[in-house]
Amino acid sequence: MRVALLTGGGDCPGLNAVIYAAVKKGINHYGDEFIGFLNGWRGVLDNNWIPLTLESTDGIQLKGGTILHSSRTNVKKIPGGIDKVQEVLKTNKIDALIALGGDDTQSVTMFLSEHGVPSVGVPKTIDNDINGTDTTFGFDTAVMIATEAIDRIHTTADSHNRVVVVEVMGRDAGWIAYASGVAGGAHVILVPEKEIDIDHVCALLKYNYDHGKHYGVVVVAEGCHLPEVGQVIDEGAKLDSFGHARLSGIGEALAELIEKKTGYETRSVNLGHTQRGGVPTAYDRTLGQRYGLHAIDMVHDKKWGRIAVLRGLDITDITIKEAIASNRRLDQRFFDVIADLEAKV
Ligand code: F6P
Repeated sequence: MRVALLTGGGDCPGLNAVIYAAVKKGINHYGDEFIGFLNGWRGVLDNNWIPLTLESTDGIQLKGGTILHSSRTNVKKIPGGIDKVQEVLKTNKIDALIALGGDDTQSVTMFLSEHGVPSVGVPKTIDNDINGTDTTFGFDTAVMIATEAIDRIHTTADSHNRVVVVEVMGRDAGWIAYASGVAGGAHVILVPEKEIDIDHVCALLKYNYDHGKHYGVVVVAEGCHLPEVGQVIDEGAKLDSFGHARLSGIGEALAELIEKKTGYETRSVNLGHTQRGGVPTAYDRTLGQRYGLHAIDMVHDKKWGRIAVLRGLDITDITIKEAIASNRRLDQRFFDVIADLEAKV
């Protein structure tokens, strides 16, 4: 078969591992040929692609980012977009498409597969919020980077007797904040699934200062709601083509409020895109390659409109419709972990 791959949405450590494994098994096991569209769905619309061979993908599983580059392009919103995609796939004699992306990219994959484009999906996001899969590749790397940053924040916050608020990514899901906050021993962990109770935050910090530890580390997810201001978005940034505002600034808003309410000197740091950069962890390289191997099997089994998922130790697949129906968010089990690890105030 002649198979096309693309990577859409925010990049994520482990994308290259998926590409590597799909191409390797496709060529060695099935005798496939591959091309990679550049810049996500934009590359399909522009008929912009590169050949993918065993030689050109050799060793890429070790690297961060995506050799295919990425964009947030919503084909559904582009007049004539679906026809253009079909025309480009026909011109290039493509038998199947593998789209690596989060819920936005996969909403396009589902739409195209409903319109007769033979396509399958691979879930991708550092946010770990795709329904139906236990873990997305990239999440482990993002948590490792955030944890390392929090470790470093402890010593500088301690030296200066300060509170430091660390803002992490995750949009409306608190997986990164939860995992890095717990691993990094943060004194306060704030997730978007729960509205921030600023008095409780201040009480937790006061506990530290009253019990001989004159500093505090707060981890806050970018999508958290502060009752005083709601979700904090970057007002200067345009909505993306899927209508999402850029979430950024809750850390700074929270730091100001903490300082005002407690009198403790407070700083904030936004980890931003460092969480998506650099090489993937061993776990993400392995998971990505397993997703890639399954994706090429899905193509040969003609599982159109389906997406690879991790269930326990198994890689299997579900419909894209189920995967994007809602976001997977933290629940009571994780709120309990956070609460049980907090100071008793
Ligand atoms: O969905 C992944 C993610 O990294 C979110 O955590 C974050 O809000 C968003 O992408 C940032 O997007 P961009 O790279 O377009 O600024």
